[in-house]
Amino acid sequence: MSNSDKYPVLMRLMHWTVGLVILGIIASGWFMVGLEDNVSYKYDIYHLHKSFGVLVIFLLFARLVIRWASKIPKLPDTMPAYEIKLGTLVHWLLYLFMFLVPVSGYMMSDAGGRDVPLFNLVMPSFLENNRELAGLFHDIHVTIPYVLLAIVVLHVLATIKHRYFDKPEHDVLHRML
Ligand code: HEM
Ligand code: HEM
Repeated sequence: MSNSDKYPVLMRLMHWTVGLVILGIIASGWFMVGLEDNVSYKYDIYHLHKSFGVLVIFLLFARLVIRWASKIPKLPDTMPAYEIKLGTLVHWLLYLFMFLVPVSGYMMSDAGGRDVPLFNLVMPSFLENNRELAGLFHDIHVTIPYVLLAIVVLHVLATIKHRYFDKPEHDVLHRML
């Protein structure tokens, strides 16, 4: 195993930071919608949920630029072609949902006439107030984070399979550590 097998350090940092932030935002979303309206900190959590969600959009763009500018290590030639294709497909699905999930949240709040915060800042508004559109984005936003979560579970199971149930040279976890 040589260093050239590894993802560049910035990609590794981004992977674990954004991964943890996203799992935290999913947990916060699930938790906050279950709180009664009279719970004093309910809307503080909404504020943080939205702010970290908007941050993910910026981090995603930064991550894709870093990816484009760096050398991504090739998977071992001995891996079956279908595993390489499936892995690539899952990674791009993860990127797609990492984009669609926060953008649907942004559009839901924006079309609903609410400010979209980024901590102490207010993000620009792109949409007119429109209850129907807000309702549509709401339906999307409360569903697709769980699709993202399911893809993450698949992704983690694949990592475990490669590490413990494959040839040692097919272990990909070290590339991300
Ligand atoms: C990666 C980013 C994000 C993830 C993973 C995420 C995930 C979630 C989840 C899991 C829920 C709970 C759904 C449910 O069980 O009903 C939720 C709710 C919500 N999210 Fe997000 N979210 C993200 C970004 C955003 C952004 C950027 C905004 C707005 C600017 C936002 C606004 C909301 C609101 C207002 C709710 C509550 C909806 C309700 O009260 O029914 N989210 N989100
Ligand atoms: C315990 C949790 C996780 C583990 C063990 C894990 C493991 C890995 C590993 C080993 C790779 C490199 C695969 C290769 O060598 O080609 C990878 C790539 C990737 N992971 Fe994860 N991951 C985890 C969580 C997440 C989460 C939560 C997300 C996003 C929501 C995520 C998104 C990605 C993406 C997009 C790539 C592709 C990187 C690229 O080539 O640009 N991962 N992950």
